[in-house]
Amino acid sequence: MLIGAGVSVSAGIPDFRSPQTGLYHNLAQYNLPYAEAIFDLDYFQSVDSRPFYRLCRELWPGQYTPTPTHRFIRLLHEKKLLRRCFTQNIDSLETAAGLPKEMVVAAHGNFDSAHVVGRDDVEVPIEEVRAAAMGEDDWASLNERYGGLCKPSIVFFGEQLPPRFFEAIRTDFPSCGLLLVMGTSLVVQPFASLIDQVRPGTPRALFNRERVGEGGVMSAGGFDFDGSSDTFVEGDCDAACLELVRLAGWEADFAALEDNCGA
Ligand code: OAD
Repeated sequence: MLIGAGVSVSAGIPDFRSPQTGLYHNLAQYNLPYAEAIFDLDYFQSVDSRPFYRLCRELWPGQYTPTPTHRFIRLLHEKKLLRRCFTQNIDSLETAAGLPKEMVVAAHGNFDSAHVVGRDDVEVPIEEVRAAAMGEDDWASLNERYGGLCKPSIVFFGEQLPPRFFEAIRTDFPSCGLLLVMGTSLVVQPFASLIDQVRPGTPRALFNRERVGEGGVMSAGGFDFDGSSDTFVEGDCDAACLELVRLAGWEADFAALEDNCGA
């Protein structure tokens, strides 16, 4: 399973690229020269760290509740049907929904750990970073204590993805029998290319508000919705997941998860 920001939209976290509502269209308050600068390492280090620090406060886990899509993913795990959930999201709502950490590959990192920029070996206790983000401490004193700019281990443009991402590609994709892709524009590499890591002919299904990731749009590979093994399900992924639950006859199991998912 591959997921992106669209699966968390109904939790109240905007995606990045949707017109009008996406984060990148609503960054005026941050005064950035271009939207992606908020996740740009050079900008963060050399120009202004404050926009990203403000975003940390807004997105810090614990403030949002998992969506029906997150619960559906958890249910797939309970049914022993999930090989792995590769997520681009930094909100950790997959584990908040009860998915064990080892079932999640957080390709773009998350708020579980923190380090000093440029010195990955200098770990910073995440509680101290949380205190700075939430205004209980200030970033300047935190950065001074650790001798550099501290940030949660969220992958910026210009940074390497975690080694676990590449390891999991090797272990998981050869045995993938069905690839579900939900709520992503599939424009950020290398994540977008994961759809082509399955064996040829493996069924793939995209659940998204718009068609994305098609061959010809991407430089190589991509979905072929006119072929026999790729399917596009247009619309909101929550509605699609609820329909899948209904079709599978899992309503009772799904409802039972609500009690221990925090949703
Ligand atoms: P995007 O904002 O690029 O794409 C979200 C996709 O989800 C779009 O195609 C929307 O149409 C679709 N969508 C929105 N709401 C939906 C819903 N309720 N149901 C179904 N589809 C919905 O987000 P990502 O593809 O996740 O990087 O973006 C990838 C990366 O770009 C992010 O991880 C982030 C950003 O730069 C970092 O955080 C480092």
